[in-house]
Amino acid sequence: MTENAGFQTVIDRHALPDQRGALLPLLHALQEEFGHIPQPAVPLIADALNLSRAEVHGVISFYPDFHTEPPARHVIKLCRAESCQARGGAAIEGELARHLGVAMGHARKDGQVALEPVYCLGLCAIGPNALIDGRPVARIDTAGVEAIAREVEA
Ligand code: FES
Repeated sequence: MTENAGFQTVIDRHALPDQRGALLPLLHALQEEFGHIPQPAVPLIADALNLSRAEVHGVISFYPDFHTEPPARHVIKLCRAESCQARGGAAIEGELARHLGVAMGHARKDGQVALEPVYCLGLCAIGPNALIDGRPVARIDTAGVEAIAREVEA
């Protein structure tokens, strides 16, 4: 089966023409099946639901949980909410991006790590905070950035 045929199978299972409400369940189904929403699937989705490609792109980019790149082996979710920002989060973000060679909101080209924003982990008093593959890490400083980089490169 070609890659597009795989996308089309999932789309056919969920698409109901002219039913805009089918878009979100379809996007979730594609992401569950392929780990992300592949770019070549977008025109197929648009055709199936009688939407424009821009409308489909708009929904994908609106929801941070939808990914257009394959999942990385390690995901760092760095808190960008107010308390962590007040505790130096922006500087930590810059250090992480530099150490890992990946910009916020992206996965590195080799698929080893992705750096994603998250907005409050409920640990505001002990920030800056992040989730490393789902595990909370608090009070991140320069040494913490280096430890995170070692962990995700291993
Ligand atoms: S603001 Fe970062 S954990 Fe709440």
